[in-house]
Amino acid sequence: MNKKEDRMEAIVALCKRRGFIFQGSEIYGGLAGTWDYGPFGEALKWNIKETWYKRFVLGKRNMFRVDAAILMNQKVWQASGHASGFADPLVECKKCKHRFRADQIEGDASAKKKCPDCGGELGDERKFNMMFQTHVGAIQDDSSISYLRPETAQGMFVNFKNILDTQHPRLPFGMAQIGKAFRNEIAPRDFLFRSREFEQMEIEYFVNPKDWEQSFEHYRNEMKGFMSDVGLSASKIHELEVPAEDRAHYSKRTIDFEYDFPFGKKELYGLAYRGDFDLKQHSDFSKVDLSYYDEASKERFIPHVIEPSFGLDRTVLAILCDAYTEDEMGGEKRVYLKLHPSVAPFKVAVFPLLRNKPELIKKAEEVFKTIQAEIPATDYDDNGNIGKRYRRQDEIGTPLCVTIDFETIEKGNGVTVRDRDSGKQERISEGELLKYLKEKIG
Ligand code: GAP
Repeated sequence: MNKKEDRMEAIVALCKRRGFIFQGSEIYGGLAGTWDYGPFGEALKWNIKETWYKRFVLGKRNMFRVDAAILMNQKVWQASGHASGFADPLVECKKCKHRFRADQIEGDASAKKKCPDCGGELGDERKFNMMFQTHVGAIQDDSSISYLRPETAQGMFVNFKNILDTQHPRLPFGMAQIGKAFRNEIAPRDFLFRSREFEQMEIEYFVNPKDWEQSFEHYRNEMKGFMSDVGLSASKIHELEVPAEDRAHYSKRTIDFEYDFPFGKKELYGLAYRGDFDLKQHSDFSKVDLSYYDEASKERFIPHVIEPSFGLDRTVLAILCDAYTEDEMGGEKRVYLKLHPSVAPFKVAVFPLLRNKPELIKKAEEVFKTIQAEIPATDYDDNGNIGKRYRRQDEIGTPLCVTIDFETIEKGNGVTVRDRDSGKQERISEGELLKYLKEKIG
């Protein structure tokens, strides 16, 4: 497969065929920029979240989890700058009325004045605020306006004082949150890459201003560590030092981690030094003191913030793009997902060689139960023939398949374990099986 579009089409098709991801509201013709996760997509997403929590939060005494409300007081977004400034450049075709993001129209200056769909003349550029607006309560006036949050970050800043008052942390400490974010993107595109509803995994790490560089470097390395944890190829990840003119209004320094997607090198994650912008703004707007008293130096100040921000759906997409592989096995074309065991929906699958032999089924169920007690993400499959089962598990990305055959029950000669990537099978004794599987999946 050569063409980049073909590769994306193949990935989208596999996601639908195998129950990873579907178009949102599909039976009604879809809703642009929304995606629904099926059983394996949800499992993949869940595993990514767990991997993230393990690296950044679990066991860390200075990290605090929160799960803030999606709807927030409109003043939050006035203070954060989103109400006035969270906008993309919009142009509309005078002929067909289609709308485009001005900075995404390809070509030279004259091409940028023409509608990419019908060639008609494009109108003047104007700012389009990307927040979804709604009203809270029965009365719809200016005072009841609220927004679906466009980032999870603000849910942490507004809880800064609650964490200070209830957990009594000392700097540096962080807040971590995984949750939905919504942006009314003018042009959602490239499957999960730019959608209107997505999930973020964000950390706001509060530091003494004099220590910001150290924490920035720490998270720069930790973010790379996380990308390796979920199996992304280091060679496809690039760091971009974002120039001042392209940085968000709150950032004093930003590094974007870009990934080589089939449709180009694009932002995967961001690491920003937000200074004291957010806490200061919320202090000013809410009139609540959001300063911190440092016992050691006897100083009171507003902490500065380092923010590693991860798009969860972009992580899913990067992992799928990295893992999607086509090869030939036994003279036939094969498709498989070379998923890292940490994120694979199933780590192991167990099959009886044939489905119509009760003695094979009985033994396979027994082996399945033993494995599942230790490795919960284990599948059991007796549908179709063995070749079909291998193909299905390959496409789901299951690293290891265990087959119970006649040698297992007649000669007590162990089971076969097939490796997803090489297709090679090894015979392993039942006594050694759990140890062998655990070593392989890590
Ligand atoms: N709190 C900082 C913040 O929200 P951002 O760069 O606007 O910064 C952070 O977003 C991450 O969220 C991005 O790096 C990307 O992974 C993800 N993201 C942003 N917009 C997205 C969209 N429309 N669809 C999917 N993911 C998106």
